[in-house]
Amino acid sequence: MANNLLRKILRSCNGRAIIYYFKNILIFKGRIGQGFPLHASEILYAIINSQTQISQMIAPSVSICIILGTRPEAIKLAPLIQQFRDRSSLKTHTILTGQHREMVDSVMQLFQLEADRDLNIMRPKQSLTDITGNTLRGLEEIFREIAPSLVVVQGDTTTAFSSALAAFYQQIPIAHVEAGLRTDDLFNPYPEEANRRLISQIAQLHFAPTPLAVDNLKRSGVTGEIHQTGNTVIDALLTVAKSHPECQVRGLDWERHRVLLATVHRRENWGQPLENILSGFEQVLAEFPDTALLLPLHRNPIVRTPIQNRLEKHARVFLTEPLDYSQLVGAIQKCYLLLTDSGGLQEEAPSLGKPVLVLRETTERPEAVAAGTAKLVGTNAEAIAKAASRLLGDPSAYQLMANAINPFGDGTASEQIVQIVTHYLSEKEKIK
Ligand code: UD1
Repeated sequence: MANNLLRKILRSCNGRAIIYYFKNILIFKGRIGQGFPLHASEILYAIINSQTQISQMIAPSVSICIILGTRPEAIKLAPLIQQFRDRSSLKTHTILTGQHREMVDSVMQLFQLEADRDLNIMRPKQSLTDITGNTLRGLEEIFREIAPSLVVVQGDTTTAFSSALAAFYQQIPIAHVEAGLRTDDLFNPYPEEANRRLISQIAQLHFAPTPLAVDNLKRSGVTGEIHQTGNTVIDALLTVAKSHPECQVRGLDWERHRVLLATVHRRENWGQPLENILSGFEQVLAEFPDTALLLPLHRNPIVRTPIQNRLEKHARVFLTEPLDYSQLVGAIQKCYLLLTDSGGLQEEAPSLGKPVLVLRETTERPEAVAAGTAKLVGTNAEAIAKAASRLLGDPSAYQLMANAINPFGDGTASEQIVQIVTHYLSEKEKIK
């Protein structure tokens, strides 16, 4: 009853109203239309008795677009999309670019999300120009039709960059989730370091996961609001970890072996660095016969084929298709340590008490290294074997890394972002 009354009020405001909590103050902004004579006390009655989360009530004509294209974006935006859908009367459009296909679809299913639009851009051996051009063209039309008040992008993929650019071209404000990561090496990672710097320069809302990311943004001279919220990946991880996920791989005995969980996909590791990494893996397996290597393959043949050629026949190597996210979380929980060039895994593993050896020359997540949960080992075979050997052979070195505290968030990032976006939109729409 009270909910209906509230919705009626919002409707009668012709879409120009918002009710929300900000810093514990209840705020109603709007003008009740003629022919809807309501006294302030009646509005207050409706608000107090409403079962809806008032903090998120906003006129339904205000819409936002959340854009994603790759698997990590899907994982990191899923909790945010859920929060917007559950807690907000703001119209949320989830748009897939289709930069990835199968790898995104499985995340969407896991979090029970449906896309409103799909640009379906993925092609075999797609170039960065393909991704950028097709995303720009596809979103131009969609943004004209929807006229969103805000476009939300995540991270540093080419989907995120080109979606931000498409929004900028139509002067739509941009919210950047996971803003402020930097290696300060323009070509490492490539093209991600450039992507995130470019997004920062055109976004209005910057959601930084850590204090260091906030400092990086200030140093970059960005305009707009910077908010430190933690990383939404922790929200996703904690939700999935609670459901006791399993990871079963044919032939792999989790009790018998100490399992090394590995992933490799980055462009800067293609070619010789990848070969070196694989040599490092072989050395570790040879030195520690009680270990097994679980390596979920990326779909890209450029990384997939060399890995298959080198490791497929090894008795203690288990190559699988990309694990779905709940299996992956199950694997992190059960493995002994991680060797990876993935950014997300550097953030996730510490929450589950697992050390990470980072197979890259740089990291935009030095917080993990400083906290002691991750170690930057690069792509040299000997360096990889030495670092892994230390963790496998020295229990105290292992415990030191396994027990460090996760610096990336406490699982409330999405909730904070929804609050801030709601407040921002109320100001932006200049509701009188
Ligand atoms: C992209 C991101 C990278 C992110 C990674 C996560 C850019 C430039 N890079 O890199 O930041 O860490 O995603 O995975 O945005 N493919 C499939 N099916 C899929 C997904 C990919 O077949 O579901 C194949 C396609 O042939 C595609 C190739 O993989 O051409 C490479 O995909 P692409 O998105 O271009 O680059 P990634 O290496 O995945």
